Amino acid sequence: MTSNTMIRRMTPSNATLGKVSPSATTMIRADHTHVISTFHQFHAETSAWRKQAIVQTVCLALEVHAQLEEEIFYPAVREVAPDNEVLSQSVPEHDEMRRLIEKLREMRPEDADYERTFMDLMREVMHHAADEETVLLPIAEHRLADRLGEIGARMTKRRMELAAPKVPAMLWNTVQAMPMRGVWIAAGAVALLAFLMGRGAAARPDYATRHAN
Ligand SMILES: [Fe+2]
Ligand SMILES: [Fe+2]
Repeated sequence: MTSNTMIRRMTPSNATLGKVSPSATTMIRADHTHVISTFHQFHAETSAWRKQAIVQTVCLALEVHAQLEEEIFYPAVREVAPDNEVLSQSVPEHDEMRRLIEKLREMRPEDADYERTFMDLMREVMHHAADEETVLLPIAEHRLADRLGEIGARMTKRRMELAAPKVPAMLWNTVQAMPMRGVWIAAGAVALLAFLMGRGAAARPDYATRHAN
């Protein structure tokens, strides 16, 4: 069975999605948490193959997340806050992340600039995510409150379509990124399923406040 077929079979109906999907803003926060907690597994002494798995996990997750925001979440926020400065910076910031992702994909973990490039990417991500969490998500929660469930359901449906071709690579990288591969295969599958459903990792403490500046 191909990953596309598998995801299609796993994807619930629209009515069911509306009941099981996180709201749009919960999904976005969960994605940020997933990326940042994966990033925190990267250390100077981490083995080269595990560094590469961590980087690839982050890059794949960021690509799906950015596309979901651009296709569904940002247009909804634009309807209620068309002149918002943070919103107008968001797509150019995604483009800068994509540039760094492409650069990382052309490198090997042993390359001198590999770690610095990944740190540059994560610095961009943290500033960007902090802006979204302190400006855009509160706007959405205030002015789109009655639509967040419906927007979240559309994002869940779309994320499963976008992630389908990437599932084998995501599962492989998620398991490789874990410290004890053999023991953590099941945990890797659970983490990937959580990502596909937009539920990410466990909540991290006070992230938006710490990175607000
Ligand atoms: Fe974003
Ligand atoms: Fe985001």
